[in-house]
This record gives sequence, structure tokens and C-alpha cells, in this order.
Amino acid sequence: MTDEIYPVPSDFAARARVTAQDYERRYRASIENPEAFWAEEAQFLQWIKPFTRISDTSFDIADLRINWFEDGTLNASVNCVDRHLPEKADRPAILWEGDAPGESRVVTWGEFFEQVNRLANVLTGLGVGKGDVVTIYLPVIPEVMVAMMACVRLGAVHSVVFSGFSAEALASRIEDARAKVVITANEGHRGGRFHPLKRNVDEALRTQASVAHVVVVRRSPADAPMTGGRDVWYDEALAAAAPWCEPVEVGAEDPLFILYTSGSTGKPKGLLHTTGGYLTHAGTSWRNIFDWRDGDVFWSTADVGWVTAHTYKIYGPLLNGATSVMFEGVPTWPDSSRWWSIIEKHGVSIFYTAPTALRALMREGEGPVRKHDLSSLRVLGSVGEPINPEAWRWFHQTIGGGRCPIVDTYWQTETGAVLLTPLPGAVPNKPGMAGKPYFGVRPEVVDAQGATLEGPASGNLCFRGSWPGQARTILNDRERFSKTYFAPFSGRFFSGDGVLRDADGYYRITGRVDDVVNVSGHRLGTVELESAIASHPAVTEAAVVGYPHEVKGQGVFAYVTLKEGFEETEFLRAEIVAWVRARIGSIASPDIIQWAPALPKNRAGKILRRILTKVAANDFENFGDVSTLAEPAVVEEIVKRRQQTLRKSA
Ligand code: WT7
Repeated sequence: MTDEIYPVPSDFAARARVTAQDYERRYRASIENPEAFWAEEAQFLQWIKPFTRISDTSFDIADLRINWFEDGTLNASVNCVDRHLPEKADRPAILWEGDAPGESRVVTWGEFFEQVNRLANVLTGLGVGKGDVVTIYLPVIPEVMVAMMACVRLGAVHSVVFSGFSAEALASRIEDARAKVVITANEGHRGGRFHPLKRNVDEALRTQASVAHVVVVRRSPADAPMTGGRDVWYDEALAAAAPWCEPVEVGAEDPLFILYTSGSTGKPKGLLHTTGGYLTHAGTSWRNIFDWRDGDVFWSTADVGWVTAHTYKIYGPLLNGATSVMFEGVPTWPDSSRWWSIIEKHGVSIFYTAPTALRALMREGEGPVRKHDLSSLRVLGSVGEPINPEAWRWFHQTIGGGRCPIVDTYWQTETGAVLLTPLPGAVPNKPGMAGKPYFGVRPEVVDAQGATLEGPASGNLCFRGSWPGQARTILNDRERFSKTYFAPFSGRFFSGDGVLRDADGYYRITGRVDDVVNVSGHRLGTVELESAIASHPAVTEAAVVGYPHEVKGQGVFAYVTLKEGFEETEFLRAEIVAWVRARIGSIASPDIIQWAPALPKNRAGKILRRILTKVAANDFENFGDVSTLAEPAVVEEIVKRRQQTLRKSA
């Protein structure tokens, strides 16, 4: 795989924002003197009070500190919106396409600015002030961007929750963040289906006393149950609010947002990002990575509930005054040419998406693509999971016409911004490889004993030294933050990913090495899934592992042991799947449920997932050291049952 190289197209290289020479020179300088590098990048922002201290950081768990530009002050919404008004008030900020073809909106910078100000005034009226948390549970509509900007205008902290999460998942995120206000919509539209978001909020709020008010966007004419004194309609409240709201001055290390993600233990963690460092990293990396210049039309297909959208669909483009496309629906509805029709309609020049969608669309052949003119495309991006070379080549050739560099960007909710990527004008592409470190980033390949490996190597992916975009803590759980990321390999941040580095210094992510599975680019904690399944009245216990899935990358494979008296039926299988969807959301649906009379455990009672992962991948040999198994017969039974299932379906 690694000998396949696609050089930077020469016309592209000639006018790129970062050329190969720039990359080498600036990368070296950024590593030799990170403070000088980032202090200069931070000039990209408009500060109220300029910072005098650049960084104060330590990854030593006894003295964990992550502070950037600490004594500077600023306002995020001024940087994202107000700054662009003099030149761009009448130009489009957002080109929105609704779920159903034909439903679209253009929001200019001027209109966007006014809505942000009005909503900020509404929120003030509802008691929201600096440091308060607002949970945003909205579909991919312009109002989600308005809501985020209105919060940060007040120095309030947004916590966006993916609108595909269930009422129960929403409730736990509201509770953890002690949100004061929830912003939602009467319903969300996706793939021709309508989701009752407001009803989910009502259900979630039955157990949540911290929320005093709910603001409801009218996504459609459909009515929604409104609770008097608590709920207000977004459109009515905005119409009654004043069109100017004074931005609140905040410190660089004041919180900007919380975003929940799954980890290896059951409870989702609320990663906390702060203002000055995050905005510096988001704004400057976005334009370098996508080689953006004024006039480009940018489109990230990510849902607003994930970090991809926070940094590179919302903050990155807004900070740069870029025009971006926002699409509410799915790539396969009403048919598989939907994305390509949107690219043609808006002349999208930079397109950022996920491998899982590409794999699904690839199956439909070239027909749906050929119906549209995609010649406006200039840069392509991939994110969220490893991209297999076959999907990479299809993206490059069939979508990009062979002329667009692909940025395979590696990063995480925790890292806030990209850490590894081939910069498009500087680093030739190798399919399936996430390229080289971004400026100021020092990756290390570390073996199980904690030794840093040099040259071509494989091991655990760690990073040495802080970068401004990184998360500062886990909300309400600083100990978990330090234990998860800084304890495993001392003095370094541990990503949880396995990695391979080749002789040219390119990195390939080989997947999670912890109890996390990556399903269609969505991160799911196996323990979280297991507890959801085990809470079903028929279930004694469950073990969940990932298995290779052609489209999703990894699928969810659940081994389930039933209580006595319950029968292993198809009906019960379907019920358990529905149970998990209701507890977490449809992204967590188990793909395969394998009944298991018992689970393989060691004598201490710990489930041996290593074996279960092999069986799930239809690998029935070489289970490694099985001497710790309490009951070897359990494994034989599981293998026998799995083989039976395979024979039946063959
Ligand atoms: C995990 C982070 C940050 C964007 C979306 C996901 C995997 C992310 C890549 C890539 C291979 C990747 C890693 C990482 N991942 N980008 N380009 N190649 N794997 O954010 O939900 O925080 O998940 O996604 O496993 O740890 P996230």
C-alpha cells in the first residue's frame, strides 16, 4: 500500500497556501519553538486585551497544566461573525439544503449577525449569562450555528448533543452539564422521516430540574407540545428581541464549549474546550488544511453533533469568513446522487466527508456521480476513521477526477483540531495514510513498555507537548481526564489509537487499542453498549466487540447471555436492538447478536474480549494464551454456535 504515491498536482502546488518547502521549514520552526509559532498564529484572532503569556503547560500527571494565551481576552462571536460584516454583509455565509430536494435557504452574513444578536438577547432574558451551559439539540439547520454563536456572545458554554441521540442519552448529557436552557426544534427531517425532537426534550426534562427554559425552532409547520412558562418559540422570541447585543469579554482560558464523546468506561465524557487556544488552532488549521481562499465554497457533511462539525464546519469557516454549505439530509435519499447534485448546484470547491459514506456510495457505481458536473472540486477531505485504499481511490478518481489532493485528517474530540494530515499543497498522498504532523504537533510511536520508537515502527500513538486546540479537562472529572490520557505513557498524551509509521514518516492509523469501536466514524464505548443491553429484563450479561464491516468500517457484535426462562428467539433479538436504540440512539444498534450461554472469563471474572473479537471476525484459531480461562468449554461453545450461524446463513 505504501508504495502508491500521488504527487501534489503541479498547478496546485504552485499556488498553494502551504508548499512543500513551506511545510518543511515551518514545521521545523514550529517544533523548535512552539511558543513563537503559536503566538504568531494567534494574531489571526481579534483580541480585546492581547495576551502576554503564551503557554503554561505540563503533561506530567502530578502537575497537569494546559493553558494558552491565558491573560488575553476576546469574544468568540465577534471573531466568527462581527469581523466579516464590513465586507460581507450581503454575501452568503450559509447555503442550506433541506432534507427534501427543493427546500433551501441562503443566509447572508448580515442576516446571520442579526439572528445571533437577537437570540443572545433572548437567552439573556431567559437568565443565561457567562459560564452557564446551554444544551443544543437541533438538526443540521442554520439555527444551530446561530445558537452556538449566541451562546458564546454571552460567554455562555454550548453543549451540542447529536439530534439522533435518544431522550435518555440527552437527559444524561443535560444532567452532567447542569444545563440551564435547551434549544431544540419541533422536529428534525432526515431521509424523508420526521423525528420528534421536542418530544424527546420533554421526556428528557422529566428528570432534569436544572433546565428552566426551552427554546423551540419551528423547523416545519408541525405543532409541538409547549409547556407554559418554560417553553418559547424561537421565531416569536427573536422577533420581540432587540437586534444588538453587546458581546461579553471572556478570558482565553474561559470555557467555549462542552462536547460529549464515548470512552472505555460506561459514562460518556464531556470534553471541555476553552476559547483562545481552540479558536487559534481551529481558524488557522482550517484554512491551511483545506487550502482555503476567498471565493471557495466549503462543504463538510458532518452532523453538528460531532467535533468534526464544531471545528471544521462551524468555527473554522466562520473564523475565516468563508461561505459554506449545510445539508440536513442523508446522501442516499431520495437517491444516491443527492450529494453530487448539491456539489454541482453550489459549485462546492472543498468537500470534507467520511469514509463510511464513500463506501456506501461506491456500491451504487458511477451512474449517480456521472449525472452531475463535479468540476468545481479542488480539495477533498476524509475524517473519522481509517479510509481503505479502495475507497480512497474511488474518492480521488471518480469524485475528484484525479485532480484533487485528499486530506486524510486524523484528530479527535480531545485534540480539538487536526494533528496529522497531508497538507494538500505540500505532502504527496499515500492512500490510507493520514500523512504527516500538522505544525506544532509532535507524534510519537510508543511501545507497550512506554519506549518511544524511532523510524518505521508500529505501536501506540502519543503526542508530546501541548497544542492550543486540545481539550482542557473532562467536565466534573479531572481525574478521569488525567488517568485516561496522561497516565498510560508518562509525559505524553495518549490517543487510544494504534499507528504505523513508514520510512517516509507517514502515519497510518490502525484503529483503537482501547475498548472503543468506530462504527461509521461514530465512536462507541463497548462498556456503554454492554450496560444498555444488560439493562434489558431478559439479559444476564453482554459483551460487545467490533468486527470488520464492509460499509461501516466496524460493526457492533454483541454476545448476549439470557436469564433463565427466556428463549433465544428472533423476536427477542429485535427487541434488544430496539432497546439499545431507545437507550442510546440508532447509531448504536447492534449489527449482530450472538446468543452465548456463558461468556469467556478469566479467574478474576474479567471478560476476555480478545477471544470474542477473534470469533466475531470469524477467526476461530490462535486464541493466544487461554490458560487464564476459568472455563475453556465456554469458548468451544461460542465457537460452535458462531460456526453454526455462519453455516445457516451461507
Ligand atoms: C477517533 C476520534 C475528529 C473527527 C471525527 C472523530 C478515529 C479520526 C481518523 C483518520 C483514521 C481516524 C480515531 C480517533 N479517526 N480521524 N483520519 N484516520 N482514524 O472524532 O469521535 O473524537 O473520534 O476517530 O480512532 O481516535 P471522535
